[in-house]
Amino acid sequence: MKQVKEYVNANKQRFIDELIELLSIPSVSADPAYKKDVARTAEWVKKSLLDAGVDKAEVIPTAFHPIVYGEKIIDKKLPTVMVYGHYDVQPPDPLDLWTSPPFKPVIKNGKIYARGACDDKGQMYMHVKAFELMMRNKMLPCNVKFLIEGEEEVGSESLGVFVKKNKAKLQSDVILISDTDIIANDIPSINVGLRGLSYVQVEVTGPNRDLHSGVYGGAVPNPINILCEMIASLKDKDGHITIPGFYKDVNKVSDKDRKELARAPFSLKEYKKDLGIDDVIGEKGYTTPERTSIRPTLDVNGIWGGYTGEGSKTVIASKAYAKISMRLVPNQSPDKTIALFTKHFTKIAPKSVKVKVIPFHGGDPLLLDTKFVGYAAAEKAMITSFGKKPIPVRGGGSIPIVALFKKELKTDSILFGFGLNSDNIHSPNESYGIFNYLKGIETISLFHQYYAEMRKKK
Ligand code: BES
Ligand code: MN
Ligand code: MN
Repeated sequence: MKQVKEYVNANKQRFIDELIELLSIPSVSADPAYKKDVARTAEWVKKSLLDAGVDKAEVIPTAFHPIVYGEKIIDKKLPTVMVYGHYDVQPPDPLDLWTSPPFKPVIKNGKIYARGACDDKGQMYMHVKAFELMMRNKMLPCNVKFLIEGEEEVGSESLGVFVKKNKAKLQSDVILISDTDIIANDIPSINVGLRGLSYVQVEVTGPNRDLHSGVYGGAVPNPINILCEMIASLKDKDGHITIPGFYKDVNKVSDKDRKELARAPFSLKEYKKDLGIDDVIGEKGYTTPERTSIRPTLDVNGIWGGYTGEGSKTVIASKAYAKISMRLVPNQSPDKTIALFTKHFTKIAPKSVKVKVIPFHGGDPLLLDTKFVGYAAAEKAMITSFGKKPIPVRGGGSIPIVALFKKELKTDSILFGFGLNSDNIHSPNESYGIFNYLKGIETISLFHQYYAEMRKKK
């Protein structure tokens, strides 16, 4: 489709400038200090939808961060594509590891560097620009709804409430989401599964106050030492999680499916080199790609307590804390997993300390349908734009709302992401390739054409 490529080419500088403007607003959802900036970003997104040509757009307040909704209904008899994305971003810390400030986007080596460049402002905005492209070229073939939220990085709680209350408004034939990655720029892929999530904070209390580590050391429980021992015991030497019942509901992946998934190219040597590690770890009996997709896992995301300032302070802290995530695979339940964790963690605590487990947000794991028109259209769009058939892969991250879309709206989603592992999402120096950004706009525009066509034939 010639107009698509031509329009992208003719407008690419403006597309980049607009994204830079969006990336300059620090929409950190986790930190209440940024609440105003998050709200400002929602208004910005709403205006961008109106400029691109939606009939109506609104910023909908919620208990926490606003949702942006917009729609263009051209004919009720035509199919409707709903686009989901998020305009909130992860905190930029640690700031000193950024080579340029996280909210002052710069372009280097063909990539835009900024927090949210890939996750998810850059990827979300591709949809706004693809929509603009179709409007300006009079080639929008279907109805489009936009549902863009500001709480994805903190668990999408408000959106969950909104979806349950607005089922009619959010009716669509397929949900299109760009918030995942491809294997490489010359190896397109489509995520057909995501892991779920259970997240907890634990608190271990020893003595009723901080103590001199010389006067008391050796005789009283040190909550930091004890927390470390407890955490260490959560995995055995084979990398198995030791929480009783943790694997009970895990769906085993058949040898045939494992073979199929192993077709995605992967080099362990390059993986290690890229990360600067001499060896990988993980559950015995599974490959590295399997360990990050079809198997559940448990990781400490943060641990603190005692003195962490400059120099030394001799002290036994009264309390120690850790934030722990568990990535889940199909058929595991986030609530059940938290219950199992809490029971076990409380049980393994020695009598000398008290333990508190605070549950945070979670999300269901999912496997997506690939045998429907939406997937076929996505595949065809990538074949046209990349010149190669995308490989179906299962992703390790989580987008909790996707399982809820299926459950509440009964609508299938397509994870049409264009990021790369090297984009450093959630990490300092996040980036998004200009190639990926423009290729995404092109491929999304094609998706709409093929989807509408294929629906007609059916
Ligand atoms: N876009 C990511 C999820 C993702 C990234 C999936 C790459 C597959 C490949 C999303 O913004 C994210 O980070 N989700 C959180 C979940 C949440 C509840 C905080 C995650 O996975 O940690
Ligand atoms: Mn994301
Ligand atoms: Mn994210």
